[in-house]
Amino acid sequence: MNLKKAAGIEAAKYVKDGMIVGLGTGSTAYYMVGEIGRRMREEGLTITGVTTSMQTKEQAEKLGIPLKSIDEVSEVDLTIDGADEISKDFQGIKGGGAALLFEKIVATYSKQTIWIVDESKLVNQLGKFPLPVEVIPYGSQQLMRIFQEKNYHPVLRKTNTGETLRTDSGHYIIDLHLEVIDDPESLATYLDQLVGVVEHGLFLNMVSTIIVGSAQGVSIIDTPHQK
Ligand code: 5RP
Repeated sequence: MNLKKAAGIEAAKYVKDGMIVGLGTGSTAYYMVGEIGRRMREEGLTITGVTTSMQTKEQAEKLGIPLKSIDEVSEVDLTIDGADEISKDFQGIKGGGAALLFEKIVATYSKQTIWIVDESKLVNQLGKFPLPVEVIPYGSQQLMRIFQEKNYHPVLRKTNTGETLRTDSGHYIIDLHLEVIDDPESLATYLDQLVGVVEHGLFLNMVSTIIVGSAQGVSIIDTPHQK
């Protein structure tokens, strides 16, 4: 079976009747959302979804999943989302699908967060995957200059048709080609204080459970980052 699909379907088992569920973004989350839709249809499961992107919103609406915005709920019971890289100490890079801002907001207000990945996403150290930084367009060239001076090898993300990509909030994404991130905490603190940076793709101490699809089957890892 497709490894992403296996992880997505396993994660949907964590969804219980009546839950408010954060619905992540990407090709792995797609299978999880599809499986929740199937359970609603075939098993009578009832949930409310809080989506993390326009892409997931469209999928959830087609499946008839009732939705609320993060501002209409007091808390999210469980968020299930993909990830681009997960280190040995369960820190992550997200944002390959440009949805990092809403993904981080929804995860922040969730009691529990599950990441679903195939085994290729598990790494010793973060950084091979380019770190996405979401920025306000005004001043973005100044940020590009700062990142170049720091040897972060920044690349302004483009669409397939060559235009500058806009996120669901109308921002730009600068991908930092760092290769190795030795100290994710201090890099996150540095990026957090830069004017014009809206959010970055370092998701630190946020994930409670990781579901990994591999050739051997699906494995479940409970991390020390429980809320
Ligand atoms: C989107 C994300 C995705 O969760 C991440 O890119 C993983 O995607 P995929 O499951 O397609 O590999 O962070 O912003």
